[in-house]
Amino acid sequence: MPSLRFLLCTIFFFSLLPACAQPRAPRDPGTLPLANSDAEKRILAVLEEARQAGKLYLSVPIADGRMLRLLTETVNAKQVVEIGTSTGYSGLWLCLALESTGGKLTTFEFDKERAATARKHFEQAGVASMVTLIEGDAHENVKRVKGPVDVVFIDADKEGYVDYLEKVLPLVRPGGLILAHNTQLGSVRDGYVKKVMADPSLETVIYNDGGGLGITVKKR
Ligand SMILES: C[S@@+](CC[C@H](N)C(=O)[O-])C[C@H]1O[C@@H](n2cnc3c(N)ncnc32)[C@H](O)[C@@H]1O
Repeated sequence: MPSLRFLLCTIFFFSLLPACAQPRAPRDPGTLPLANSDAEKRILAVLEEARQAGKLYLSVPIADGRMLRLLTETVNAKQVVEIGTSTGYSGLWLCLALESTGGKLTTFEFDKERAATARKHFEQAGVASMVTLIEGDAHENVKRVKGPVDVVFIDADKEGYVDYLEKVLPLVRPGGLILAHNTQLGSVRDGYVKKVMADPSLETVIYNDGGGLGITVKKR
């Protein structure tokens, strides 16, 4: 017969198990991060206003916005190139990082109305001085960029990703990042993703908490 003490110890041990097995709840990647400065507060407020007001067009989800910011800050980016500004939503996420790295963003958009909204958002967020928005066809205009580029974010016409990659890759510094959105879409997966995965000078992983973000480092 097991002693009463043994029985009580066993019950106590098993009662602890569910708590130990419980994974620590991660912060919801779909919520905005906490602000640590007035500059961050201002940018986050515009991000939230734009979302609430529906002033977005095919913009990245918050999970990808946070990842864009984290990666850009991690590589201490001084020069970031974004292809596909839309209304400036992802640009604002990039600016959250550039506020602390002291870097600049060059972003490309061919839709006049969306470009005008993006300019407004950059003004409201107090980041207009760190952003150059170039209007027109990015396939042509991206040729004007001079390296070294620390981070490229590709999020325009999906069939154009390979062309953008070929044009910007020589400008990306060793250790720099090429980020590409919507990697789960057939045209991106079968063209761009295949190409970066097959290149031994690159290392690529796909982050899938948002809309599918290809994260590629140009090896040193
Ligand atoms: C998916 S949206 C970009 C979303 C934006 N990155 C964000 O998260 O807020 C794609 C944008 O690329 C623009 N675009 C598509 N093809 C383009 C081209 N060849 N040159 C410049 N902009 C282009 C579209 O007008 C559209 O606003």
